[in-house]
Amino acid sequence: MVARKIKVDLHYLRPNNSFIYPLYSKSGEMVLEARVLLTADKITQITEKYGHILYYTDTGERAVIPSYRMKIAYNKSREIMEEIMNTEKLSRATLHDAEKVVEEIVHDLNTTDIEAVELLKEMKSHDEYLYNHSVNVGILAALFAGKHGGFTLDEIKYIALGSYLHDIGQTRIDKQLLNKEGKLTITETQKMKRHPQLGYEILKNMERISPIVLQSVLFHHEKYNNQGYYGLPYENLPDFPKIVSICDIYDALTSKRPYRDAISVEYALKAIVNTIGSHFDYDIISAFINGVAPILNHSQGFYTKNDFCELSTQELAVIRDLGQRDYLKPRVTVFCKFVREGNRLAVSFHRKPIQVDLEVDKERRMTKIISNEAQIAAIKKKLEERDFF
Ligand SMILES: [Fe+2]
Repeated sequence: MVARKIKVDLHYLRPNNSFIYPLYSKSGEMVLEARVLLTADKITQITEKYGHILYYTDTGERAVIPSYRMKIAYNKSREIMEEIMNTEKLSRATLHDAEKVVEEIVHDLNTTDIEAVELLKEMKSHDEYLYNHSVNVGILAALFAGKHGGFTLDEIKYIALGSYLHDIGQTRIDKQLLNKEGKLTITETQKMKRHPQLGYEILKNMERISPIVLQSVLFHHEKYNNQGYYGLPYENLPDFPKIVSICDIYDALTSKRPYRDAISVEYALKAIVNTIGSHFDYDIISAFINGVAPILNHSQGFYTKNDFCELSTQELAVIRDLGQRDYLKPRVTVFCKFVREGNRLAVSFHRKPIQVDLEVDKERRMTKIISNEAQIAAIKKKLEERDFF
């Protein structure tokens, strides 16, 4: 077993954050136990005594993805895109090479996670978005599928390959349209929406291509509310394209684009939770949040005590304590329920706030974490008027 120190920068800490691992000073002194909620005073105390850099120790045995392997993945990704642009198809030899690259990455990822995330960050600093995005989504999807626990190694490999190739159809779309800033016209949107089909056309006749790869490419823009590109019934969708889709959205949100800055990991994770019931089902988001989020977010909670959330019962609640075993199941205080009255949504307050542990309550599920400042201020005002908060 090899112990490794992972650096944590306390500048990113806020009151009510906690860590899933204990934190240590540089000299190895334990500074903070795992999952303890921090207060502003405690943060000041810690930073005054130990400075802003602490560490957690990871004793798990891990392989490291060598950076040369990432460079090969990046170059292979570029080769694939260029081959398709020049010849309008993908040769069997190039696909075989891509499979080999993915196989090696999955082999490394089998026992690795944090290094992979560091590499994702490194890749983000490059300019060429489509190549980096392809490789990033491939790595993240392999990580997610591995943490999910329900897939064989071969399935993980094909999920990663499907992720790697998910936007390959974009190579058949006009570059000007791909890089257009601002709103697309209806015709342009329709053209863009053809990229899963175009990707599928490139790959479908290849010998021994896995159905997992084809499904991942073709269905990576389907949605829970059936308002995806094809409007397919979501319940018939396998998990493979959903995994690709979540990783695609996460990488897109956290990448800098010409028309907007990158969104922080914390906000991206909240945005992903907020897709429950619209873009994705609860179970797949729960698997992502509990499997991959702690690694992506450097072991820091992405929501905090006193954040407001919505529940599957159309109730509004405030988070009292982080979920101990499941990040989507914190302890909450429930205040009110939204009730539809004709066209408008009315608020019906409970007689008294209800204390609920979502790890125990089987009726309620957290489906949204509210991050809009104006909405939060309006909620607080209403609750203070009733002495609820
Ligand atoms: Fe796409």
